[in-house]
Order: sequence, then C-alpha cells, then structure tokens
Amino acid sequence: MPYSLNDLVADIKDIILSEKLPDGSDKICYFVSKALMDQKFISENLPDRQKGENPREILYEDKETGFCVCGHVYSTEAIGSPHDHGSSWAVYGQASGETEMTDWEIIKDKSVNDIIYVKPFKTYTMKAGDVHFYGVGDVHSPLRKDPVRLLRIEGANLDNIKRSNIQAI
Ligand SMILES: [Fe+2]
Repeated sequence: MPYSLNDLVADIKDIILSEKLPDGSDKICYFVSKALMDQKFISENLPDRQKGENPREILYEDKETGFCVCGHVYSTEAIGSPHDHGSSWAVYGQASGETEMTDWEIIKDKSVNDIIYVKPFKTYTMKAGDVHFYGVGDVHSPLRKDPVRLLRIEGANLDNIKRSNIQAI
C-alpha cells in the first residue's frame, strides 16, 4: 500500500489530538519511518532543489494544532551549530544520505545573560530510514557532508519560533 503525504498528516494529527507529546512521539516516529520506506513518497515530496532555491519546503501546516511537515533537501555540505527548537519539539527523518548528529548536554541553563551552556554528549550517524525525536529543549547539531533529503515534523512552524541562545563550552 502506498503511503501518501495526506496519510502521514492524518496519522500525525490523530496522535497529536489524542495524546500529549512527548508521549505520542514513538507513534509519530513510526509513521515517519513508514513514509521514508516509500520511494514514491520521497520522490514526490523531497525532490531536488533548483540552484538558489530554499532547501526547506513546508509540505503541510496544520491550522488547528500548528504542526508542520517539512522537506529539507541539501545539495551540498550543511553544518548546523548546537541549537534547540524553542518551545517546539521536532522529529527528524533521514530519507537519503547521512547526517552526523551530536546531542549536547546542558551544563548551565540560562543562568548568565540568558545563555544556555552545553557540552557534547553523544554523536551518532543517521542513515536513510532513521528517525529521531527531539523534545522541547533538547539541544543538537547536524553535520551533513553529502547531499541529503530529510523529512522533518515540527510541533510548530520553526520559522516562527525563537531559539535559545546556546553556547558550547
Ligand atoms: Fe534541529
């Protein structure tokens, strides 16, 4: 059975309406995995970007609950610094390529100048089909060395969310 963007949206919305996050996060990860296993889903929703085009595309934004399904397609190396997602959670699904992801441990939480100090906690490689949930306040940094396609579910559109001021020590 093919799995479409509409199917994914309906499954995620069911979970968000019936359970509070992070309780329902495993179920959301399951459905993101299901989408990543469907090659038609990937080719339809995560196509190559044209030169100069934004790597990020909002595929769906839910007007009622605020969650978003986004496609991120990077054609070159992309290095992210440690960040959280403000008041939102996020699910990262690796559709193709690899991401070297580092999770960071919070050492001092907004004690000085509203800065959160962090140190590296663990690094792991996300390969095609891997899915990871990042709860509110979790700090991570992605390193993408090759062209990658990602499916990202956001509790709220991260374009509109203020991130914390984070500094590595
Ligand atoms: Fe992130």
